[in-house]
Amino acid sequence: MTNQLNQVLLRQEIQVGANLDAWLANGGGAGLQNALEAPEAIVKTIEAADLRGMGGAGFPTFRKWQFVMAEQAEDKYLICNGNEDEPGTFKDRLLLEKTPHQIIEGALITALATGVNHLILYINPHQNKAVEAARQAVAQWHVHPLFTAVAEALGRPLTLRVFLSSGLYIGGEETAAISSIEGGFPFPKQKPPYPAQHGIHGQPTLINNVETLAHVTHIVNHGPEWYHDLGVGQAHGTKIYSLSGDVLRPGVYELPMGTSLRDLVFEYGGGMLAGKEFKAVFTGGPSNTLLTKEDLDVALDWDSVRARRSRLGTGAMIVISVGTGIVKRVTEYIDFFADSSCGQCPPCKIGTRQISKVLRKIDTGRGRRAELDHLYNLGKLLPGSGRCALVDGAVTVLNSSLDKFMAEYEAHLIDR
Ligand SMILES: Cc1cc2nc3c(=O)[nH]c(=O)nc-3n(C[C@H](O)[C@H](O)[C@H](O)COP(=O)(O)O)c2cc1C
Ligand code: SF4
Repeated sequence: MTNQLNQVLLRQEIQVGANLDAWLANGGGAGLQNALEAPEAIVKTIEAADLRGMGGAGFPTFRKWQFVMAEQAEDKYLICNGNEDEPGTFKDRLLLEKTPHQIIEGALITALATGVNHLILYINPHQNKAVEAARQAVAQWHVHPLFTAVAEALGRPLTLRVFLSSGLYIGGEETAAISSIEGGFPFPKQKPPYPAQHGIHGQPTLINNVETLAHVTHIVNHGPEWYHDLGVGQAHGTKIYSLSGDVLRPGVYELPMGTSLRDLVFEYGGGMLAGKEFKAVFTGGPSNTLLTKEDLDVALDWDSVRARRSRLGTGAMIVISVGTGIVKRVTEYIDFFADSSCGQCPPCKIGTRQISKVLRKIDTGRGRRAELDHLYNLGKLLPGSGRCALVDGAVTVLNSSLDKFMAEYEAHLIDR
């Protein structure tokens, strides 16, 4: 093991649930005080910390904020995205349940930085404990002087509320979340216009993941240098992983950014389940790419993982062992995407079903080389063909599996 466990967001002492007094007694509120004293410094601090979005795309947080700051409007919205419905991702519900105040404080700091004045905790209704903790936490902030201080600093009415999402996977996509909050079915919308220009009720809207906002609180409290030092080597801060699959100790781990995949799986995760041999990991969840044995020493940070043609995504890590059929597993994931497609875009609606059909044929030993070529072509044709990135995610996992495990696909063919 090369790293020390350096927990910030999951530190035991701040797991106080909805108790705001306990949060404030354990160092909470200090980031917000700093933000109130120097709101103009916040964006620079977040930029210097190199914070990136933890909801999947890893987009620089400060830049996303600047898009909303550039818009003139009386009302601006922040959606704190806690929809979390993708298989293998289960970190945000834990944060909401155990430490909702660090997320709300992050949202209030974001308000001071960007001028957003309507803060919405958008939570999956299936996560009952997270919803309950968030509701109780919000009620306490409403009557706290710090909340009033933020409203006064903004000079506009400040609202903070919990909104229950549809609980559907597609509801986590940014424009689908907006549709939901406006009262409709979570249909993603065509972009542009982007949410920063035309979001909820046509107003500028920022959307950040639950974990992203939690990091904001600690960065503004302790500063970017402190955040840098948490990471390994050139990497900054920490990252929460949802570790699952064939490991001895699946669970939620917060580790220094830059921890190796090997340490995550074999040290923190306790290694492989008895008698099993590591085969691969679905990195960043099923809408992402695979890393294999050759990648075990990769540092888990945005750039190192990208250099392996993969992505950190949400930090979901689904480990599979030798004996797990890649074709079968990818078929299951494609089925999830096909079932989750909202159906607005024919290439997504029909394409994901078609991929699933062909994969199943190959997996059950009825496929031919021409069908493998068909999969390959669909993998080239479909990216970018939908209104949202659901179809891209489905194709990413397909393409990655073809790239890394072509021999296994070929072994299933009748005419191999
Ligand atoms: C189909 C689909 C589902 C998504 N679900 C979630 C989700 O549950 N939570 C989330 O934070 N982001 C989700 N995203 C990404 C969001 O659209 C958005 O990029 C993210 O919330 C931005 O936050 P960040 O910049 O802090 O990462 C999803 C994207 C797609 C295409
Ligand atoms: S790409 Fe798929 S999920 Fe996204 S809007 Fe189109 S049909 Fe709906």
